[in-house]
Amino acid sequence: MTKFISICALVTSILLLTSGRPVKTYSELYRPQFHFSPEKNWMNDPDGLVYYEGEYHLFYQYNPKGNEWGYMHWGHAVSTDLVHWKNLPIAIYPDNNSTDKVKCTAWSGSAIVDKNNVTGLQEGSYKTLLAFYTSRGCGQRLAYSNDKGRTWKKYAGNPIIPEAPGEETRDPKVFWYKPGNHWVMVLYRMPGGDKAKEGISIYSSTDLAHWTFESHITGYYECPDLFTLPLDGDSAKMKWALLGGDGSYMLGDFDGKHFTPESGKKVLDYGQNFYAAQTWSNAPDGKRIQIAWMRESKYPGMPFTGQMSFPTELSLKSTPDGPRIFRTPVSEISSLYGKKMDKTDKNIIPGLKNYNLLKGIHNECVRITGVFDVKSSNMFGITVRKSRKEAGTEISYDVKKQLLTCIGSQMPLAPVNNKIKLDILVDRASIEIFANNGEKVITDNFTPAEQADDMELWTHGGELMVDSLEVHEIKSIWRE
Ligand code: FRU
Repeated sequence: MTKFISICALVTSILLLTSGRPVKTYSELYRPQFHFSPEKNWMNDPDGLVYYEGEYHLFYQYNPKGNEWGYMHWGHAVSTDLVHWKNLPIAIYPDNNSTDKVKCTAWSGSAIVDKNNVTGLQEGSYKTLLAFYTSRGCGQRLAYSNDKGRTWKKYAGNPIIPEAPGEETRDPKVFWYKPGNHWVMVLYRMPGGDKAKEGISIYSSTDLAHWTFESHITGYYECPDLFTLPLDGDSAKMKWALLGGDGSYMLGDFDGKHFTPESGKKVLDYGQNFYAAQTWSNAPDGKRIQIAWMRESKYPGMPFTGQMSFPTELSLKSTPDGPRIFRTPVSEISSLYGKKMDKTDKNIIPGLKNYNLLKGIHNECVRITGVFDVKSSNMFGITVRKSRKEAGTEISYDVKKQLLTCIGSQMPLAPVNNKIKLDILVDRASIEIFANNGEKVITDNFTPAEQADDMELWTHGGELMVDSLEVHEIKSIWRE
């Protein structure tokens, strides 16, 4: 036995000597440095987003048993600034002592603060936090916390909405509807198990425990959200937005029971990895803050699978095509800024020496913001994570086709006064592009080559005027 232990120790030392220091958690090759990811194991949807007593709660679909989907629990983290996250113990466990991969596991949902103790569940001085979640196949359920979300109990009257046999129902999002003095729940539902009827059902309640079915709107799938935004910042012009799991949304009116669309469906994100977006309940200053799961992202060899998008603030703005939801990274990102470099009023001409204004910047995690006058350029772009050996990843704008492309994602984008505005977040495993003040967004995952950290700004076919270009190094949220 002693011989076996010393052989193991020897092998470990050799491994450490040959591979350098062991990799620390949150420093791994594809570990997001300023996006939330779980220390280990599988994560999907954000759940139970609620702000209370200075803390943004982020719960999430979590498999404590491994790096693939299943055995869903609600993992938990909190933040005071939407940027730095503190991991907390698992909040919600499967029901009925289920050890099954699916049955009665804790699927997605939302959370609110029971400000007036309507449920009567408050015990101490803290308001009760209520989490509405789907217990897969076991109905919509309620869990509550009397200690600012640190520990959770299951409500004795569960399920609050039983699942009808043969139906699929999930992902309750609950909010207060002031004009009607009642709460509203939007719930993904496939009535009678009929795929043609799938969509979002709307329920109402005056006590948060008993719910009345009001209406159903078809053409949506999973993870609904419903909220108001002021048009062009004017609180006299509030509009409702109804969103589905892929972020697509309709604008319209809502009377507390029925949603009446006034537009067709719009795209919220043109990338391949934006899904199950939700907004925070009770966020300060009436802000509408959203975060999404970067679905189907790859993290080869990592101890975790899954990361969240960077939180964005939503606004509704008039455009020549009608009102649209705009998304911009929350302003708190500036607390992560490291070194800065900026270049303004530079005309770049293809092929000329020193035309790459991004030469000499070597960082894996950056925010790049630029205003580009397309002038006579046919195509221009920024390539990140390149090296002499590696081609890197291109973000390119085709001036004739008015198309922005990145990692196989494409979005139509028209210049405004001949100018394209880009705000790009690059982390170790993701690229988010907010174009023209957040009117159009691409959220993509990538796995760049190790040590390839050059950047290039380029133009083909003609001149490009760089009105402004700023690069901020983004510091890791995990090492302070
Ligand atoms: C969306 C989703 C939800 C469900 C959860 C299960 O990604 O399928 O509809 O509640 O994931 O993990």
